[in-house]
Amino acid sequence: MKDKLAIFSGNASKKLAEGIAEYLGLSIGDAAVSRFSDGEISVKINENVRGKEVFVVQSIYPPADNLMELFILIDAFKRASAQMVAVVVPYYGYARQDRKDQPRVPITAKLVANLLSTAGADRVITVDLHAGQIQGFFDIPMDNLYAVNIFVDYFLKLKLPNLVVVSPDVGGIKAARAYSKKLSASLAIVDKRRINDEEAEIMNILGEVENKNVVIVDDIISSGGTIIEGARALKDKGAKDIYCAVTHPVLSGSAIGRIDKAPIKELVVTDTIPITDGKRHPKIKVLSVASLLGETIRRIHKGESVSSLFK
Ligand code: R5P
Repeated sequence: MKDKLAIFSGNASKKLAEGIAEYLGLSIGDAAVSRFSDGEISVKINENVRGKEVFVVQSIYPPADNLMELFILIDAFKRASAQMVAVVVPYYGYARQDRKDQPRVPITAKLVANLLSTAGADRVITVDLHAGQIQGFFDIPMDNLYAVNIFVDYFLKLKLPNLVVVSPDVGGIKAARAYSKKLSASLAIVDKRRINDEEAEIMNILGEVENKNVVIVDDIISSGGTIIEGARALKDKGAKDIYCAVTHPVLSGSAIGRIDKAPIKELVVTDTIPITDGKRHPKIKVLSVASLLGETIRRIHKGESVSSLFK
């Protein structure tokens, strides 16, 4: 495997890339991703990749330089005659604008897909894509992986009695149902209306939550509005301890301060986006997706099934 397979990363996902390489028994390839004096991105691959299967690990979260680094890395690998360039994008950002729901707005999820393909990506691997249909924006193979088993293993160990899994909006019902089945828990739904980028208004709770321990399941926590308003409404309805399982910790603006004050016992996230110093908090627990991504890369390399990982 070592002869043909190479793992590289830009600056957005270095630690996660190291975990993936470790799972595969490899070290990260040698590439310098730095800045020219004017701030433009400079990339130099310092080892031979001719004929190799290159997997570049880089999440797409702000700043946009992370995305630009990825384009430039892909270009460099293609020009260095890699046999195949797969982009491993644990967090596929710009995904929330995935349809034209108002006049004169872009579809950024499609734009990013076009740009990755134009740069030369041969395949894409991601985790908990905001909407499954974004896969259709690509004409190259795309594997959308699910973090559900990682969270379920964690919550099963906590042995929480009388558990209900809650979807914080109608769009998340399918994912929440998968969690409730695996955790042998009941299911409830928060009927949310988004007021603006930072605020969500809760209209109703559908399902029984009184005297129950809760796990709210979502793909993204950004401003925290969705989860926090949901947690408050659940408390008002008599819920006991509230845990949250959220794959991508975007944690923008004042999210950490709001989580601190919110009636949330624990916010469990993954390392698709690194938790940097200003975002650490005792309520936040991080689980790694490195083995999931490493095993997926191994299977792609060996021509084995990826979907059977989730059966
Ligand atoms: C919405 O469809 C997503 O699944 C999340 O619920 C949303 O992006 C979270 O954003 P925020 O934390 O800003 O409410």
